[in-house]
Amino acid sequence: MTDQATKYNVPARVIHWTMALIILGMIPVGFLMLNEQISREVRNTMFIAHKNLGVLMLVLIFVRLIYRWRNPPRLRPVALPAIQEFAAHATHVALYVMLLIMPLSGYIRVRAGGFPIEALDALGVPALVPRSDALAEVAKTVHFYAAYGILILIAMHVGAAAFHGIIRKDGIFSRMWPIFSRESN
Ligand code: HEM
Repeated sequence: MTDQATKYNVPARVIHWTMALIILGMIPVGFLMLNEQISREVRNTMFIAHKNLGVLMLVLIFVRLIYRWRNPPRLRPVALPAIQEFAAHATHVALYVMLLIMPLSGYIRVRAGGFPIEALDALGVPALVPRSDALAEVAKTVHFYAAYGILILIAMHVGAAAFHGIIRKDGIFSRMWPIFSRESN
């Protein structure tokens, strides 16, 4: 990619939209699986999906960070007011941080609590944190508050994407969309 590319390259767009899809499912399922009005059976299925897709998210965020580090995007600059540039950068950094905190705290909550993570257990991956109710409780609290943090960040991120894609039509949204089209240089 040259520094005149108008799009992120295809792997970056595939990882972005795969993560977006999984997270948009993870958040409502995370809340619904705790709702006791839903049958135990359905909630158990949701728990299994949430834990295992959550671990996949942890893997994907590392893949994404390593990919970005090895292939820094060199996009044609779009002129933006400095404050918008700063807000976008701050939101993106905060999203990356929350995308690490969410699955890590979920993982610690489950493993320190002594619960299974079916895919990892099937692969023979041992728990990487000690069994501890106190640690599980701290991780549970972090996971709970981080869920609201990530919801706010996602709302800001989607709002900004819609503003650029629908109102400004300045090419910022189409850097990430559509998923599979070739980047134009
Ligand atoms: C990006 C990844 C993740 C997102 C966005 C997410 C989101 C959520 C949300 C919104 C909730 C409901 C709020 C709460 O009570 O905490 C929740 C709960 C929960 N999540 Fe996650 N989660 C993620 C990853 C994980 C992972 C990797 C695990 C475990 C392997 C996990 C295990 C749990 C558990 C056990 C609960 C219930 C908390 C409790 O015990 O009350 N989550 N999650």
